[in-house]
Amino acid sequence: MNQKKAKIAVLVSGGGTNLQAILDAQQSGQIASGAVVLVISNNPNAFALTRAANAGVETAVITKKDCDSQAAFEQTILEALAARQIDLIVLAGFMSILSADFTARYERRILNVHPSLIPSFCGQGFYGLHVHEAALAKGVKVTGATVHFVNEIPDGGEILLQKAVDVLPGDTPEVLQRRVMEQAEWKLLPAAVEMISREILGQKG
Ligand code: GAR
Repeated sequence: MNQKKAKIAVLVSGGGTNLQAILDAQQSGQIASGAVVLVISNNPNAFALTRAANAGVETAVITKKDCDSQAAFEQTILEALAARQIDLIVLAGFMSILSADFTARYERRILNVHPSLIPSFCGQGFYGLHVHEAALAKGVKVTGATVHFVNEIPDGGEILLQKAVDVLPGDTPEVLQRRVMEQAEWKLLPAAVEMISREILGQKG
């Protein structure tokens, strides 16, 4: 492992298009200060696992079902992270809320991408397609995506990057989700990963 890169773990649950954007950015050199060394999924059927394997990245499946409790689930994740000396955790479509105990251990070292302009359409219950359904139900004309640090408040940590995306007449949740991903999420997340990886490298000396 290259010592001159921040070690990144990406936590996923589903399709993994945001993971793919990070892997592609690493490949192209846009992400130069960090390397994804581990992908953890809480869903054994997540296509994100295939994306990781295709890129030659180690994967781990850690499900709540296999652990007795949320605490045991988080402990298992923490052990996997510690074993690989992970510097930066990226939640890329990870559909599980982490406790304050967990987030406190990685202060300003956990990033999340959320498919709205926080503080709109965020917090408990707002995830995936539901976010876009809520935006369309409200009739907003502009939505977008946010990359933020993760703390004990769901979608409540410091905002790093945001990008606005137009809502267009006739949009379905699926169409809007795709536009927000293409125009905002897949650009913001790699940019934030490089930004914080560079900061970590600076601190490591
Ligand atoms: C993305 O739109 C991401 O922003 C969202 O789920 C999707 C995952 O897609 N995350 C949340 O809603 C978290 N609150 P992906 O698996 O293709 O990256």
